[in-house]
Amino acid sequence: MTQALKYETASSGETQALAARLGEIVQSGDVLCLSGDLGAGKTTFTQGLARGLGIEEPVSSPTFTIIKEYDDGRIPLYHMDIYRLGEAAVQEDLGYDEYFYGEGVSVIEWYGFLEELIPEDRLELHITLAEGDGRRLRFTATGPHATARLKELEQLCPTSH
Ligand SMILES: Nc1ncnc2c1ncn2[C@@H]1O[C@H](COP(=O)(O)OP(=O)(O)OP(=O)(O)O)[C@@H](O)[C@H]1O
Ligand SMILES: [Mg+2]
Repeated sequence: MTQALKYETASSGETQALAARLGEIVQSGDVLCLSGDLGAGKTTFTQGLARGLGIEEPVSSPTFTIIKEYDDGRIPLYHMDIYRLGEAAVQEDLGYDEYFYGEGVSVIEWYGFLEELIPEDRLELHITLAEGDGRRLRFTATGPHATARLKELEQLCPTSH
């Protein structure tokens, strides 16, 4: 089950506005896997998603903490950045399942290092750089929950594709 949804944004504000719409509809147990080069906009997207959840605490890159939890929104946000752990991520016992199968939504930057431990039903977002401040965002759903969320997002934010 794979369905793709594509967007183009022209600024970080546009990326965050789209992310905020997703933040309004995500549900407990949702998992969002983010990929794209350094500086593509994964953390920027997560900040917008947090805003859509009603989180007011500033969201920063969890590069050193690896996992940061925000509890002041509609549901908790678990923001992870696996980059610093790299290949060691799967051996580190950071209690990933507590997050993936918890009450909140998990957002994982550099999820490739952790892929085998991440639930199969997940939303994936790949961000690529375009001209200037442009970004291309490509969402894919890999299971029924993620597919449902993608359809809701498409209704809220129709694309021209
Ligand atoms: N259209 C856009 N969408 C998102 N970010 C943009 C856009 N245009 C410019 N930017 C800028 O690009 C940078 C993206 O940085 P960000 O930290 O979000 O990247 P990242 O993918 O999380 O990188 P890392 O892999 O290092 O964690 C920010 O400075 C942001 O303001
Ligand atoms: Mg980041």
